[in-house]
Amino acid sequence: MYAKKLFFRDLSSLKFRMRTTPYHFNLLSDKERLSAFYEAIKDKAKGTVYDIGSGCGILSIWASFYSDFVYSVEINPDSAKIAEHNLKPFKNILLINEDAREVFFKDKADIIICEMLDTALIDEEQVPVLNSVLKYLKKNGEVIPKGIINCAEAVSMNSDHIHYNDGFERMNYSSYEEMSNFIIYNKINFSNNIKEDVEAILNFKISKKGIVSGIKITTLTLLTDDLICGPTDMFNPELLIPIEKINVDIGDKIKVILSYKMGGGLNSIKTEIERIP
Ligand SMILES: C[S@@+](CC[C@H](N)C(=O)[O-])C[C@H]1O[C@@H](n2cnc3c(N)ncnc32)[C@H](O)[C@@H]1O
Repeated sequence: MYAKKLFFRDLSSLKFRMRTTPYHFNLLSDKERLSAFYEAIKDKAKGTVYDIGSGCGILSIWASFYSDFVYSVEINPDSAKIAEHNLKPFKNILLINEDAREVFFKDKADIIICEMLDTALIDEEQVPVLNSVLKYLKKNGEVIPKGIINCAEAVSMNSDHIHYNDGFERMNYSSYEEMSNFIIYNKINFSNNIKEDVEAILNFKISKKGIVSGIKITTLTLLTDDLICGPTDMFNPELLIPIEKINVDIGDKIKVILSYKMGGGLNSIKTEIERIP
């Protein structure tokens, strides 16, 4: 089920105005992202919930409607100050302004919500933070989102730097053409400890004559077993990575070895390209 088809309860249904930073305002304006999280929380939240990277607190508030107690953890002091205002009316939420990796939780979690996602989880700390917090998840506990699916295509792109294909880039200079089939290269389940280093062998079958000059990564987010969301401009926009240029014809096969560290930043991305005879 795709989130954009779901009924979205808009923020005005809350009985007060949310305060936000400009960044969190943009996050709250992404109705597809928010409605997907709302549906997943309504479906899964129970008992003790952690909301890790709670920002201005919206997911903590929704979790508090359906559970007994919510630990809302936010590292950024400015965001935490805003969350403090937003979360004040909710007596079953405790706000903790710390790095989630440093927090000692008194109670184990039935549900961990963690929304520090970015495309392929390269530039944000979703994976290192989850790897640290998972020890507090109860045996049958669950994580929202459940995981991600990473996909890749070979492209011809006009830019020579790594960038997200969001509205700003599209308007200013970014354009690309798809040159190959669409490959799912890995699936990550957030309930298990995750190896941070990724090496993927991408075997592309070329579908157009021209020049391959990059790869495009698309990340789909699995909120629950039957709810997939994204990409949107604010939620894992496609990532375009330039590679060494290669002339191709229809039916050619090329191999790209893609490696990066999840949480290691965009500078950790490396690519090698080979033509398959
Ligand atoms: C993408 S925002 C999501 C905000 C909010 N959960 C929402 O959905 O609107 C991620 C948040 O995680 C916070 N964050 C990043 N690293 C963190 C860490 N190690 N511990 C706690 N919070 C962290 C950021 O400051 C940011 O506010």
